[in-house]
Amino acid sequence: MRLQAKDIYLDTLTREHCLTLWHDYEYDFDNPSEELRLGLADEGAYEWYDEIRRLQGKVNLRLGIFLNDRRVIGDIALQNIDRVNRKCSIGLAIAKLSNRSRGYGEQATRLMLKYGFEYLGMERIYADTLENNVGAQKLLQKCGFKLEGRERESVYLNGQKYDKLNYAILRHEYFAGKAK
Ligand SMILES: CC(C)(COP(=O)(O)OP(=O)(O)OC[C@H]1O[C@@H](n2cnc3c(N)ncnc32)[C@H](O)[C@@H]1OP(=O)(O)O)[C@@H](O)C(=O)NCCC(=O)NCCS
Repeated sequence: MRLQAKDIYLDTLTREHCLTLWHDYEYDFDNPSEELRLGLADEGAYEWYDEIRRLQGKVNLRLGIFLNDRRVIGDIALQNIDRVNRKCSIGLAIAKLSNRSRGYGEQATRLMLKYGFEYLGMERIYADTLENNVGAQKLLQKCGFKLEGRERESVYLNGQKYDKLNYAILRHEYFAGKAK
């Protein structure tokens, strides 16, 4: 399965893609979104791949983000798929800093929203991010997510406390945004 946008497409991740992303992922020291972890071995990439396969199509759907020249640059996932309440979360990462702020994350998110709402029948897709993560907030807002909550001092990262922001988009909001 392949979902195509203008500059990127989403497709299945292989073990080799996971290893590439594992090595390519760069830490944004000015805008940290997770703990800085050092000394990771390649086995971690293969464990990640095994985990993806174990959950794929059940509670998660994780795909690679590829440039049109077939280079893998990131990953995006619908997670915690709850088929009873028809909701799930969304998360993504663009591995190299040089590939960020180029519109790839937004294109990937719009493809996943389309898949989630139009094919999986979701009613609600949500995402959490940290207060310092301006890029994620801008991306979510551009894609139609609304801010629903703020978990004060929820995350302790690199010696600093951050609020966690809760965003979500509902099915009718997604279709209203599409009609514009
Ligand atoms: C957050 C992330 C996925 C955004 O992806 P991206 O491809 O860089 O985002 P886009 O280029 O599609 O940008 C969408 C909007 O956000 C803006 N933006 C992106 N990064 C930004 C930053 N660091 N600071 C300010 N604005 C930023 C873009 O300029 C764009 O707005 P515009 O169209 O008005 O110019 C990416 O930065 C990333 O992988 N970060 C690390 C992991 C992470 O934080 N994941 C998100 C968890 S919810």
